Amino acid sequence: MMKINLSVTLSLLYFICIHAEKSDEPLSYPSLWDKVPGQLDELAKDGKIAINPWCYMHRMSLYKVLLSVTDKYMTTIGLNGTDNPLWGFPAQLGWKFRTGRLNDPTTVSLLCDHCSGGDSCISPKSWWSCVNYYVSVIPFLAAEDEGFFQQSLPIEILQPSEMAEDFCYTVSGCQSQVPELMSKWETFFQGLKNLSLSDIPDPRDEDKILELMWEAQKLSVSTAASKFAERIKQYSEPEVSFSRSWSNAVNYVAATHFRSGLRKTNHFQAPMPRRVLKEGDKPPNIADLSAEENHALYMFSWMDSMNRLIGGTLVNTWNKAMCSEKAREKGEQLLQDLVMNPQFAVSGLLSILIEMSSNC
Ligand SMILES: *[C@@H]1O[C@H](CO)[C@@H](O)[C@H](O)[C@H]1NC(C)=O
Ligand SMILES: *[C@@H]1O[C@H](CO)[C@@H](O)[C@H](O)[C@H]1NC(C)=O
Repeated sequence: MMKINLSVTLSLLYFICIHAEKSDEPLSYPSLWDKVPGQLDELAKDGKIAINPWCYMHRMSLYKVLLSVTDKYMTTIGLNGTDNPLWGFPAQLGWKFRTGRLNDPTTVSLLCDHCSGGDSCISPKSWWSCVNYYVSVIPFLAAEDEGFFQQSLPIEILQPSEMAEDFCYTVSGCQSQVPELMSKWETFFQGLKNLSLSDIPDPRDEDKILELMWEAQKLSVSTAASKFAERIKQYSEPEVSFSRSWSNAVNYVAATHFRSGLRKTNHFQAPMPRRVLKEGDKPPNIADLSAEENHALYMFSWMDSMNRLIGGTLVNTWNKAMCSEKAREKGEQLLQDLVMNPQFAVSGLLSILIEMSSNC
C-alpha cells in the first residue's frame, strides 16, 4: 500500500513540477481581473473602506491590493511581476469561481442580490468559499496589522447575511478567534519587510519567503478544513474525496516551497475539474471532463484512499526529507527518476527519503 501511495503521490508532484515549467503559453488572468479594484480608495463608501468578501470582485480586490503593496518587497528578493507567489491565491479563487465552487451547493438558484453592479455572490454555505476566506481575509488583515496599507479611512470587512459567527472581521477579532494563524501570517509579512531591507541580497531570502508563506497557507487550509467539516457534507462523495485530496496536496506542494506565481499556478490547476463533481462521477471515465482532468482526478482519488489507509506516514516522510534547498532539488530529481525510469525501485526511493531526512 505504501509503495502505491508513494508512487502515485510522487507522480502527481512530478506532473505538477514538469507542467509548471512550460512558459510558451499566453498568461491568463483570473476572471474579470481588469475590473477588480486594485486600490483601497476605490472601495471607499460613507467614510470607510467597505469590503464585502462575499462578493467575487471584492474578495478578489483583497488579492489585487495585497499584490500591489507587496510587489516592491518581492522584487528585491527576485520574485518580480507575476512571479509574486501571492499570485497563487487569485489564480485559485478564479478557478473556484469559474468552476461553480463558490456557489451554494444546496440550491440550483444563483440569485444574488447583495452584491452591487452585477457582481457575483460568494456563498457562505460553500465549503470552498469558507476555506478561501482563510487564505484571503485572514492574510489581508495580517498585512493591515503589519502596516502594509497607507489608507486614511478605516477598513471594514462586511459580514455575510447568514452564519456570520463563523468568521472574524477585524485584526483584533481574528487575533482572538485564530491567534496562531494570524501570527503565522504576520510573521510572513514581517519577514517580507525584514528580508527586503537587508543590505546584502541573499539568494536564500526568496526560499525563506516562500517557506513562511507556505507555512501560513498550510495552517489556513488545515484550520479551515476542520472548522468547516460540516459544510463539506453537502457535496457528492466524489467532490468530498477531491476536496480532501486538494487539502492534502497543499502539504506536499508546500514542502517543495513551490513558487506559486501566476504562470506556475495556472499550469498546476489546468487539469483541475472544471465543475463541481456529482454523485456517480467516476474518474478516469467522466465523459464531460478532459483526459487530463480525468487523469488528475484519478491520481487524486488514489492518493485520497491511500492516505486514509496509512494516515500521515507519507507526508511526514516527505516533509522530513525536504529539509534544505539542496534536499528539495534532490527531491525533484528523485521524482524524475521515479517517473521516467521504470527500473527505479520505489522501495529504494523510500529509503533514500528516510536517509535524506536523517542527514538534515
Ligand atoms: C524578472 O526577473 C527576471 C530574472 O529573474 C527577468 O528576466 C525579468 O525581465 C524580470 N521581469 C520584470 C518585469 O522585471
Ligand atoms: C523582523 O524584524 C523585527 C525587528 O528587527 C524583529 O523583531 C522580527 O522578529 C523580525 N521578524 C521576522 C519574521 O523576521
